Amino acid sequence: MQENVAGARVVKAYVREDYEKKRFGKANQDLVDTQLHILLMLSYMTPIMNIVLNAAVVAVIYVGGIRVQTAGVTPGNVMAAITYLSYILNGVMMFAMIFQSVSRGMASYRRIKEVLDCEPVIADGSAAATSQKGRVELNHVSFAYPGGNGEQVLTDVNLVIEPGETVALLGSTGSGKTSLVSLIPRFYDVTDGEVLVDGVNVKDYKVSELRDKIAIALQKSELFSKTIRENIKWGNPEATDEQVLAAAEAAQATEFIFSKPEGLDTMVAEKGMSLSGGQKQRLAISRALLKNAEILILDDSTSALDLKTEARLYEALRTTYRQVTKIIIAQRIASVRGADRIAVVDNGRIVACAPHEELMRSCEIYQDIYRSQLKEGGEIYGE
Ligand code: CTP
Ligand code: MG
Repeated sequence: MQENVAGARVVKAYVREDYEKKRFGKANQDLVDTQLHILLMLSYMTPIMNIVLNAAVVAVIYVGGIRVQTAGVTPGNVMAAITYLSYILNGVMMFAMIFQSVSRGMASYRRIKEVLDCEPVIADGSAAATSQKGRVELNHVSFAYPGGNGEQVLTDVNLVIEPGETVALLGSTGSGKTSLVSLIPRFYDVTDGEVLVDGVNVKDYKVSELRDKIAIALQKSELFSKTIRENIKWGNPEATDEQVLAAAEAAQATEFIFSKPEGLDTMVAEKGMSLSGGQKQRLAISRALLKNAEILILDDSTSALDLKTEARLYEALRTTYRQVTKIIIAQRIASVRGADRIAVVDNGRIVACAPHEELMRSCEIYQDIYRSQLKEGGEIYGE
């Protein structure tokens, strides 16, 4: 049901209504079958119990009748025996009912307990504050997703990013860029090696303190059905309107915000449905900038922007947020060629990490990417 309501557009676009109806019908039928099976079993139980009860009564009357004639038992005794017997059998029947409820309850209890007992894998550490601000270091990091098929996503990654530096991650889709940056705020723990932020292993930080140092705009921007102002202030609830505007300005979002009649008070529809892809991305970047953290991570956050807007955004990052360490993931070389260093990610490894010019000379994979993008649009240089 939920999938179908949320994905209504896709279902309609692909004209899969009938298919989805059948799928839903099948799920429903499964439920009906199971319930029917249970009810059928229960409905056998009552008549069986009744037959047993009444057969016992008949037996008592039969035996009692003979005894009354031959052994001097009074009819009152036989009646009493029948009453006791029905009490006992009623008790047994009640017990069967209770047993059924208890076994249902036990099954539910086991499931609830599983959830309650679930220990968070990411536990707090106890690190002392350091004087460094915004240094990121990955030492021989290997990583596989927990619960995945054990496939290694990152292999022996080494990378040091100095405070204030801008490092871009470039690589084909599925090469592990998102996985690499999600290790920094410790969304996952590494399987091997270590990740250091400001010289301290991320496992030793209190999780909230570590994440306070990092602002991240995710690949798929999450917006809430609130006003634009509230969506941006999500990054820093205490921010004033001026700060909100400054962040939006740097993210190149002010222009479209003020083209709306209600400006910052414009309501955003659920999941940002009322905005274009590029507008959503710019709001997400504004939010990350407003957080004013030491480390800024933009995961493919400018993919929907045209090259001019993107260039202005990076220029603002360079000037206004100079002291912030910036990690930028992008697909287009035009987006990242201005970065201090570009790390080329290929199949879970960093194959090279150097400025654009040097990579152009020495890195074959980078040259390949460059050539293929040049062929597609010739827009390598942005401006
Ligand atoms: N992966 C996974 N479990 C996840 C996320 C990703 O097993 N929860 C795997 C994917 O199948 C992929 C690899 O991890 O093979 C790398 O994924 P990711 O880091 O997301 O790749 P990106 O380089 O970020 O790809 P893109 O440019 O498409 O965002
Ligand atoms: Mg990604």
